[in-house]
Amino acid sequence: MSSSSVKDAQTLDKNGQEIKSVGFQRFGFDCEVSLDSLRSLYLRSHYVVSASESQVQELDAKEEGHGHLTQGPNAYQSKSIFHPETQSISYTTLSRFAPVKLLPPSSRKRILVTGGAGFVGSHLVDRLMLLGHEVTVLDNFFTGSKTTVSHWVGHPNFELVRHDVVEPFMIECDQIYHLACPASPPHYQFNAVKTIKTSFMGTLNMLGLAKRTKARFLISSTSEVYGDPEVHPQPEDYWGHVNPIGPRACYDEGKRVAETLTYGFHNQDGVDVRVARIFNTYGPRMNPHDGRVVSNFIVQALRGEDMTVYGDGKQTRSFQYIHDLIDGLIALMNSDESRPVNIGNGDEFTIGEFAELVREIVEKVQAEDGVKLERRVQIVYKPIPTDDPQKRRPDTTRAKNSLQWQPRWSVRMGLEEMVRYYKAKMSEGSM
Ligand SMILES: NC(=O)c1ccc[n+]([C@@H]2O[C@H](COP(=O)([O-])OP(=O)(O)OC[C@H]3O[C@@H](n4cnc5c(N)ncnc54)[C@H](O)[C@@H]3O)[C@@H](O)[C@H]2O)c1
Repeated sequence: MSSSSVKDAQTLDKNGQEIKSVGFQRFGFDCEVSLDSLRSLYLRSHYVVSASESQVQELDAKEEGHGHLTQGPNAYQSKSIFHPETQSISYTTLSRFAPVKLLPPSSRKRILVTGGAGFVGSHLVDRLMLLGHEVTVLDNFFTGSKTTVSHWVGHPNFELVRHDVVEPFMIECDQIYHLACPASPPHYQFNAVKTIKTSFMGTLNMLGLAKRTKARFLISSTSEVYGDPEVHPQPEDYWGHVNPIGPRACYDEGKRVAETLTYGFHNQDGVDVRVARIFNTYGPRMNPHDGRVVSNFIVQALRGEDMTVYGDGKQTRSFQYIHDLIDGLIALMNSDESRPVNIGNGDEFTIGEFAELVREIVEKVQAEDGVKLERRVQIVYKPIPTDDPQKRRPDTTRAKNSLQWQPRWSVRMGLEEMVRYYKAKMSEGSM
């Protein structure tokens, strides 16, 4: 497969309209960027290029000269070339970046993104950079990786700082997106005490920073604050049903106390706050081994292994594509809405149905790429883990009314892109 086959296939939204750009102009903040420019940052040609030494030299020669900067988005990347014979990858560290908007100082913001090297953070960073803002990423690389933002390292608008948010940090900034926190169950349960410390002390430090610099503060909270909900779908004024001592408590209760802190600083110190309650999100750059259901299913199906469903498969989930989430986060940050806002996709699937959809899409992509399957992967059922919620679906009325935001990507479109991303990673040998 090549990234061009993704480009050739049309990307359609839920209403069948072609998606050519993401973002929008709202609340005086323009966040629209072309899908092609954005895609070139994660579905990059180097994932599929395998080159001999002579081809590498040819590629390097072609890269000479500034004139190439007027070419399409693929021309603005440092190249990383995979050598299958030696299972190695070579990087060219040239400082050539995707074009970013040139903003007047009055609209250019200094934006701090904690956890910016993670899955959600790196997509947010791409968007903010393309829009022309100054972005500082703060990350301890516990679950994130430098490679997710390496295409910005060296750019004059970008700074990457290795730092643990549990320790105080000082910087001048206008907006803080506070995302730092492991998000997948195996990662947040790996060191439960550290997860709570990150949620509590990390948020305390970042709120202190917001108070000192008068920056607007947005926290990425989660649908897990609703626990195993008794109300369906979940509106923001539902208080939740959380087990305070179960295996998921370090994350769920950590986020709940982080929200409490956020409103404490808001009410007591006048800090300008935004709270995004994010529901299940998936997309490229998601760690394929972190045990989240979307990546599990895709990786198993691509490898031709049976797909594991925990429980009877009747529990439901809703899944939102990463670009919709980033639209929602940026809209929320720049709106006047200081109450918590659910950001998620309401299309609900049983896990069993979802497994079948993933299998169908993987088969479609494999067929398009001419891969013959030896056998159809099976869906197998295993016992359900403790405290796994049975039902989860966002009520997004508030986001619709306050932010004029609604998800645009169908689950199918998002899954197709993600399958292609993982497939390319596999053929490169890095997964
Ligand atoms: N992805 C989802 O479906 C989802 C759903 C709900 C909420 N969220 C929230 O969104 C945020 C980002 O999630 P993600 O999916 O990108 O997860 P992720 O694990 O990919 O990213 C988290 C990032 O935070 C960094 N980090 C963790 N602890 C840190 C610390 N103490 N100091 C500095 N950096 C630290 C990690 O290294 C990583 O780069 C999290 O706050 C998560 O709770 C995500």
